[in-house]
Amino acid sequence: MSDDPRRDASLRYLYAISPEDHARVPAYAALAIALSESAVAIDLLCAVRPEQQNAMLIFAGLHDVALSGHPVLSPLYEDLRAGRGAAPQEFAQRVIEVLEADPHLLDGHIDRSTQTNEVNRSATLQAILRVLGREGVRDLNLIDVGTSAGLNLYPDLLHVRSEDDGQPLTLVSTSLAGPWPEGPLPHIRARVGLDPHPLEINNETDLRWLRACLWPEDGRRRERADAVVAHVPSWPERTILTGTATDALEEALRLVDSSVPTLVQHTWVAAYFSPDDQRAFYELMMDLTATRPVYWAYLEWPRSVPGLLPPPAHEPPPRPGASQIVVTRPGEPPRSWGWSHSHGHWISFDPALTA
Ligand SMILES: C[S@@+](CC[C@H](N)C(=O)[O-])C[C@H]1O[C@@H](n2cnc3c(N)ncnc32)[C@H](O)[C@@H]1O
Repeated sequence: MSDDPRRDASLRYLYAISPEDHARVPAYAALAIALSESAVAIDLLCAVRPEQQNAMLIFAGLHDVALSGHPVLSPLYEDLRAGRGAAPQEFAQRVIEVLEADPHLLDGHIDRSTQTNEVNRSATLQAILRVLGREGVRDLNLIDVGTSAGLNLYPDLLHVRSEDDGQPLTLVSTSLAGPWPEGPLPHIRARVGLDPHPLEINNETDLRWLRACLWPEDGRRRERADAVVAHVPSWPERTILTGTATDALEEALRLVDSSVPTLVQHTWVAAYFSPDDQRAFYELMMDLTATRPVYWAYLEWPRSVPGLLPPPAHEPPPRPGASQIVVTRPGEPPRSWGWSHSHGHWISFDPALTA
């Protein structure tokens, strides 16, 4: 962060799509550049409350307007989803034209939260569970902090493959360092999610926001999210609480089976806490893991979570924008287990964990 909020906002747009994803979502990559150069878009991001000043909120707002039937954006995004879209620069230019013609277009969105529920992150969460399974953890409760629609409460039920087999419930991830972690999956006794604004999968507006937070060019993400949403009613019961990480965690712990350990997990969540809340959450987790059979695992971009005091990693991130995988076992300090693509497309575990 510099002393120039407008420059910061511009850079947030510019770096919103990591370089390795540019080829996969070229229109969104072009939109990121166009937004970074638009004074109206910069004003918009500057008007968002500090914890949510994430370019993805504006991407999602524009996508949501398109999904709501906007006369220009709706067909533009529909074509992009269908793979017959305008060339990337043309797509970006047309979106910017709409935004600049109506600077109030996203007035209803800038108070919302980025709630991207990325199911493919469950590939990394499953890898963590397999390591714990190998260490002898047979039964476990799962608490997902910042759960959004709760789609990452089933890391044990999804298939992880290194090549996409096209099945809706398949997660795709490869290991960049050593073999994929092996081990039996613990039996999940209870599943609890918490979020200050949980998305209801039976609510049409919430479901639209869930889809708006995904990238229209990446149809596989939406297909996966839709498939998990469709399976939730037939999968093991879950409970979703409304509350923040620091307010609702004790209640979540009261709901789970206290005779077995609990894994508290969060993925791309703590970046949205204020610095004070990050620190308070860290203290809470340090106390819980020191005094109870609680594991704490997170996937977060370390630069955005200084208050969690991310431990040193065994190697630098193999690619920019990676999430650090940090796991705290009960009674032990937090340890870096490695790195993961922000949407779970690859992991790079500390080889000692997979040997
Ligand atoms: C980018 S989404 C990630 C959702 C999900 N963890 C995933 O990886 O798919 C961030 C989520 O964190 C939630 N969140 C924001 N502030 C929070 C807080 N103080 N405590 C708990 N969750 C929070 C948001 O409501 C949102 O659903």
